[in-house]
Amino acid sequence: MPQIDRRRLSALLTAEQDHFTETHGASRALFERAKGSLHRGVPMPWMTQWASPFPLFIEGGKGAHVRDVDGHDYIDFNLADTGALFGHSPTPVAEALAERAADGMTFMLPNQDAIHVGEALTARFGLPHWQFALSATDANRFAIKIARVVTGRRRVLLFNGCYHGGLDETLAHLENGVMRADPANMGPGIEVAETSRMVEFNDIAAVEAALAEGDVACVLCEPALTNCGLVFPREGFHEALRAATRASGVMLIIDEAHSICAGPGGGVAEYGLDPDLITLGKPVAGGVAAAVYGYSAAVGERITAWLDGLDSFVTGIGGTLSGNALAMAAIRATLDHVMTEAAYDHMTTQAMRLEVGVAEIIAGYGLPWSVARLGARVEYRWGGGEPANATEALSDADPELDRLFRLFFLNRGIMLTIFYNVALVSPATSAADIDRHNAVFDEFADAVTGLSYTNLR
Ligand SMILES: Cc1ncc(COP(=O)(O)O)c(C=O)c1O
Repeated sequence: MPQIDRRRLSALLTAEQDHFTETHGASRALFERAKGSLHRGVPMPWMTQWASPFPLFIEGGKGAHVRDVDGHDYIDFNLADTGALFGHSPTPVAEALAERAADGMTFMLPNQDAIHVGEALTARFGLPHWQFALSATDANRFAIKIARVVTGRRRVLLFNGCYHGGLDETLAHLENGVMRADPANMGPGIEVAETSRMVEFNDIAAVEAALAEGDVACVLCEPALTNCGLVFPREGFHEALRAATRASGVMLIIDEAHSICAGPGGGVAEYGLDPDLITLGKPVAGGVAAAVYGYSAAVGERITAWLDGLDSFVTGIGGTLSGNALAMAAIRATLDHVMTEAAYDHMTTQAMRLEVGVAEIIAGYGLPWSVARLGARVEYRWGGGEPANATEALSDADPELDRLFRLFFLNRGIMLTIFYNVALVSPATSAADIDRHNAVFDEFADAVTGLSYTNLR
């Protein structure tokens, strides 16, 4: 098995950083100017955390490609971290938005698009009641609140390695089996230890023990973990999880923000799940800020009873722009014309082409790396095996290799994600795009192992 020489790795990283700086003068100039008004030169702090020495400034994007201000074209396998899973500016969404934008965008009242969307979501995901938020984070926030109303309990049970957005209740991880607050969570208002419990994925005994405490309102989980490398549910895990939550009257919330990559019905359909609530943000409006959450008839009855008991406006959920008409138009167009069976067939076929190609390259170099796929999402790891939980999945983490990997691809016209080693495949991603990705993967493996690589930039 080839050894990865760390000095070689850091020489490669320096060379790639220099190359990026030399070839992205316009992005660099805009970054300098932006520092005059945007804190640290970006709209959000994490935008400086890409692998590049400074952020790319983007000119535009269509389908599977984006352009930066220096005139470079990228094949986009990041797809806005699933926000643009169905490609940039899908034509039906762009057209629906233009039409809606010309005739009022927000009213604080329902319209017919809202009914159409509710019916389409019920048909697709099976749950009878749907509501709207502006982000997946907020959809999760509201789902948790609903679970608290229904159960009269407060805590959230989570799986180690999860990410469900910027919720204080969820930003934690296990350290030697003990839950610790995530130190990168900015200004939490309350200790996570007071609101949450956390166990490893696939550990049903730990789930049962946590639920036995009697204070858990809901389990918030993804069908398969996607934020620490792909971790798949083991045989029987979801059935046992559902049985345990039912037995203790705990709400099961399935977060489909990423697992919607699995197919038109997301991970719920893929694994045959039967949750009390589903949340779905990110690509559901084709790139427009919107999210949906749905719940069962039983949950609906409890919420109705609670709402009927109020003698003032309901608060603590949603906001002025939630359920706005522009978002409704975008979700309607996305559900009807973009998130189709045909689109998913293409995405899955091309993602398989990527997965098979990468697996062959890894084997060819005799590297200990591995690749896994959930529908249109392909994740690479620097280790092998099939992890059962986040601790196992993250045992091979290599931040320096990650950084080089993403920058190496960026310098060769391929955008990978900011946070993890994943490639997302859209309905617009072509076989040629996949082959280019795989050719760069081959070049990367060659560069890192140093077998024959001479193109040190
Ligand atoms: C599974 C999951 N849920 C929710 C979120 C939060 O999404 P957003 O940042 O769009 O609110 C994320 C973000 O990556 C996620 O991975």
